Amino acid sequence: MSELRKIHRTASHELTVLRDVSFSLGEGDTCAIIGPSGSGKTTLLGLCAGLDDATAGSVKLDGQPLEELDQDARAALRNRLVGFVFQSFQLIPTLTAIENVLVPLELRGESGRQKEAAELLRQVGLGDRLDHYPLQLSGGEQQRVALARAFIHRPKILFADEPTGNLDAETAGPIVDMLFRLNRDAGTALVLVTHDPALAAKARRVVKMSGGSIVAEEEHAGV
Ligand SMILES: Nc1ncnc2c1ncn2[C@@H]1O[C@H](COP(=O)(O)OP(=O)(O)O)[C@@H](O)[C@H]1O
Ligand SMILES: [Mg+2]
Repeated sequence: MSELRKIHRTASHELTVLRDVSFSLGEGDTCAIIGPSGSGKTTLLGLCAGLDDATAGSVKLDGQPLEELDQDARAALRNRLVGFVFQSFQLIPTLTAIENVLVPLELRGESGRQKEAAELLRQVGLGDRLDHYPLQLSGGEQQRVALARAFIHRPKILFADEPTGNLDAETAGPIVDMLFRLNRDAGTALVLVTHDPALAAKARRVVKMSGGSIVAEEEHAGV
């Protein structure tokens, strides 16, 4: 992705939220994005994942320029390549844990993958919670369902926006370990927005944003 710019326009204001940000990530690589609240991290993630349109610039997913695709083609590409984990879990309240995990497959018209979904839920320690509804689960358990959902279609890249932001430290630790383990096992690239320096340090690259720009970048061996 290159020279990415995002301007929010309202009736009386123009707000430049991203200024010519350039960034790319190789297969299976891990990158943390840190920076103060309002610095554009969520906006950047939304553009990279094709959830939102850039005002200027180009985003390529798996070599495909998103701006050249129509909405349907983009949704199909997203469904094939991309997984998401949000701060607020975003499970569907009327579906059980296993039904939530199966949603990305349903969206592609694939059925009969209950066994895989159950196996993923087992891997995140919820083998005995398959038929529970989100409201019957703790925050940490809900985020583990969301992790299983994000990996069920074996995405090439996973975007996680403050995945532990709503969890206490004790709950967050195991979730983070699961996130990195699932990622490694599936060979998925990971872009992780976080306020937590310990979490950021688990990624091979750390990108720091401020005021809509990337202001620092460091690389290390990771875990
Ligand atoms: N839909 C929107 N309309 C107008 N301004 C927005 C919108 N979404 C985000 N912003 C503004 O863009 C800036 C960056 O927001 P965001 O990407 O959410 O930052 P971060 O995730 O780093 O906290 C903030 O100043 C925010 O108020
Ligand atoms: Mg944010």
